[in-house]
Amino acid sequence: MACNLVVSNLSLKPGQRLRVQGEIAPEAKSFSLNLGKDDNNMCLHFNPRFNMHGDINTIVCNSKDGGAWGAEQRESAFPFQPGSVAEVCISFDQADLTIQLPDGHSFKFPNRLNLEAINYLTAEGDFMIKCVAFD
Ligand code: GAL
Repeated sequence: MACNLVVSNLSLKPGQRLRVQGEIAPEAKSFSLNLGKDDNNMCLHFNPRFNMHGDINTIVCNSKDGGAWGAEQRESAFPFQPGSVAEVCISFDQADLTIQLPDGHSFKFPNRLNLEAINYLTAEGDFMIKCVAFD
């Protein structure tokens, strides 16, 4: 999938919060936000699927360690709508990443790679980034 955005040297530390705002394409099938060290080492692949790989309106999360995907985690919440602007906030500590969805609902995903800093962010798919902020 083509990358819309690649950010390196992020140096996001525990306790800091990353806020990503973007516009979901009207005919969106899927998009992902990927966080970690590089393309092969991601502590979070956050992948809302509107209609992709057999998933309808489902958030799929995973990690990638040394190029290998881990076990997927699926969320039942899906507060995303094609053709709208959405904001996702992500923070992390040694144990978990915390993902806050546009409706305020949040969930955790284990920090399987035990990264001490997140240096790399990419956005892929049907999501046009409008704003990236650190709080
Ligand atoms: C695969 C998909 C990848 C990624 C992965 C997550 O099926 O091709 O893009 O979403 O699932 O486990």
